[in-house]
Amino acid sequence: LDNGLALTPPMGWLTWQRFRCITDCEKYPDECISENLIKRMADIMLDEGYLEAGYNYVGIDDCWLEKQRDDNGRLVPDRNRFPNGMKAIADYLHKKGFKFALYQDYGNKTCMGYPGVLGHEATDIQSFVDWDVDYIKLDGCYVDTGKMDDGYPYFGKLMNESGRPMVYSCSWPAYQNKPNYASIANHCNLWRNWDDIQDSWSSLSRIMKWFAENQDDFAKYARPGQWNDPDMLLIGNFGLSLDQAKVQMAVWSILAAPLLMSVDLKTIRPEFKEVLLNRDIIAIDQDSLGRQGLRVWNKSNCEIWNRKLSDGSYAIAFVNKRDDGAPYAVKVSLDTMSIPKQAYEVQDLYKEEKPRSFGPGGDFETRINPSGVKFFKFIPKTSNEVKTDT
Ligand code: DGJ
Repeated sequence: LDNGLALTPPMGWLTWQRFRCITDCEKYPDECISENLIKRMADIMLDEGYLEAGYNYVGIDDCWLEKQRDDNGRLVPDRNRFPNGMKAIADYLHKKGFKFALYQDYGNKTCMGYPGVLGHEATDIQSFVDWDVDYIKLDGCYVDTGKMDDGYPYFGKLMNESGRPMVYSCSWPAYQNKPNYASIANHCNLWRNWDDIQDSWSSLSRIMKWFAENQDDFAKYARPGQWNDPDMLLIGNFGLSLDQAKVQMAVWSILAAPLLMSVDLKTIRPEFKEVLLNRDIIAIDQDSLGRQGLRVWNKSNCEIWNRKLSDGSYAIAFVNKRDDGAPYAVKVSLDTMSIPKQAYEVQDLYKEEKPRSFGPGGDFETRINPSGVKFFKFIPKTSNEVKTDT
């Protein structure tokens, strides 16, 4: 969508993956979807360098609403959990330098059963404008999937006509069998292609597999203003080991995916925080060329993922999906990695290996932990470097 927004994949924090639909603030005061949770997370994001690293959207997913609209047909945020309303949240976030993301659903109800926008499109967009929302995630429960091809563009048109710049995140293709990606890319800034991510390595692996096997259908539509969305980052939660968390961060950056954390930033362990804040990997994700990378090799349960970057270098991730105990050695040529035959300076983006020179000939060898990754940047050596000054 060419609306001047999301020129790089959106980054931020969103409630759903970690906090789901926890609404009992008496029992779970630190976890319920509430003004309190949003403010606490935003404070940490500011104080601990997440905002500075690029995570600038803070978002509320499902379960923020009262079950009934008001007498004028308007949406009402839950009165107990959002006692000051949504404008107060936006003001708080904006003052700290963040942008405000909010969830709704195109259907009659949200997936968790709160009022959806169908039949109230204009009213709801007016509310989002009144509340200074900067980003709308529009889910697709409780609506006929056939309606989406017209409905999502219609809602986007109203958003655009509202005059308030709002990123438009669509769940449209996730609910369809044969999505029209050309149209989706025209009308949305980002779109959820497929199933919800769950807090496990098996869920993450399934998503990577699906994205690899279907990459030819949609990778080509990724560019500034329009991104494929493989779903939120699990990093720092219960289900992934540190190695597996590194896999997600690496592959998401190759995919030019939105980097939406969903984790309790108060209790996150430092080694996971370090993965989320890896500046070199964030830079790969946010690369200005905006070209989505591909899985280019898949053998013996190991994979190579490749993304071309704006400065002529390549991000190359070696993913080991094997579970035999020892690190697995892979030995491949530049051809196998699908990058031009030349000499490279190779940097390990997780800084586990020393920089080395490689190419144009020979085989590149590296060892990868079980359900782990090695993530390199292959930087072409220019002839200038060997020129001597006279
Ligand atoms: C389905 C979406 O795909 C999830 O990301 C989340 O928004 C839930 N619905 C909320 O009900």
